[in-house]
Amino acid sequence: KNQTHQTLITMHEHAKKFFHHILVNTEAGKEAMAYLESRDIPKDVIEEFEIGFAPDNRQILLKVMEKEFDDTLYGQSGLFIERDDGSYTDRFVNRIMFPIKDAQGKTIGFSGRMMPSEQAQQDVKQPKYLNSPETEIFNKRDVIYNFHLARPHIRKSNDVFLFEGFMDVIASHMSGVKNAVATMGTSLTEQQISRLERVCQDVTIVYDGDAAGINATNRAVELLTDNTTLGVQVVMLPNRLDPDEYRKTYGLEALENELKHHQLTVFQFKKQFLSQEFNLDNESDVLTYLDLVLQELAKIPSVIEKDFALTQLSEEYHVSKDTLQIQLNSFIQSNKAHQF
Ligand code: GTP
Ligand code: MN
Ligand code: MN
Ligand code: MN
Ligand code: MN
Repeated sequence: KNQTHQTLITMHEHAKKFFHHILVNTEAGKEAMAYLESRDIPKDVIEEFEIGFAPDNRQILLKVMEKEFDDTLYGQSGLFIERDDGSYTDRFVNRIMFPIKDAQGKTIGFSGRMMPSEQAQQDVKQPKYLNSPETEIFNKRDVIYNFHLARPHIRKSNDVFLFEGFMDVIASHMSGVKNAVATMGTSLTEQQISRLERVCQDVTIVYDGDAAGINATNRAVELLTDNTTLGVQVVMLPNRLDPDEYRKTYGLEALENELKHHQLTVFQFKKQFLSQEFNLDNESDVLTYLDLVLQELAKIPSVIEKDFALTQLSEEYHVSKDTLQIQLNSFIQSNKAHQF
């Protein structure tokens, strides 16, 4: 596009190569490299995702950039912080650097993960992941992490796996599931959804297994089912694990198996999600729960899934299938009435 745009991208490409070099080839990168090794991230994955390290030095990227670029765009680039006196310092210090790329694979921003040694110090309240600020080339609401590498795999499988974190995308990729992307730690946006809609028909949400992840899953399911024609599936990981922790605990094949063979339908997810809020040993809770579950079931178009679910509910809660069917029909009728 315009010249500024081009130069900002060139600066980011330059920074990406510098951070990667520091991680892979220098003494300053040793501790970060050891940390990545401790997380079982192999060398070839570090290469493929071009992971880097910003050393513990507030001037180092600045010095590297000064050799190639004048300072007119330093402020706009997001790579530096402007001091009151107009001078600059590096924004990313002592962090593992994940380059964030656009759909063409050009680096437009970074997310820097704090080192475990700093994470252990409770007094320093720094974000675990520090993202580039919004710039002319970097818009968090628009960018999808790993979209560039994942796109051919997404097209081929007609399905995309959506994760919370960069490390989860990388874990998925390592397990052979390469149609894997993430948002930038924010909830899914309309722009991101429309990008995905252009390349596939199905989305599988695989957020963290903790309470925050499960609630975020529910919001993403609502957003996708209400606003798109994408088919939606959900993978819920056990024991509050995130996909990367699951891989670390049970191995790559176990993760691949969860992703490929334990996809829940929207209804199965809703049934499980709603059950958290009730004590299902208590009869009045069961009645409320069944009502809510049937309301969800009324939204499901598949006749077969409806019948299957009714059979299951009938056996699980000892209510006749006919009774459940009557209640379900009344919800379906009232949904229809609301449409007009
Ligand atoms: P690891 O501890 O490295 O495995 O990270 P994680 O991906 O498991 O982190 P977590 O589940 O806490 O968060 C999920 C995603 O949210 C991350 O990948 C980031 O994109 C984002 N995120 C996490 N912490 C922060 C933060 O402090 N600030 C911002 N802006 N984003 C964050
Ligand atoms: Mn390299
Ligand atoms: Mn999380
Ligand atoms: Mn996580
Ligand atoms: Mn994690």
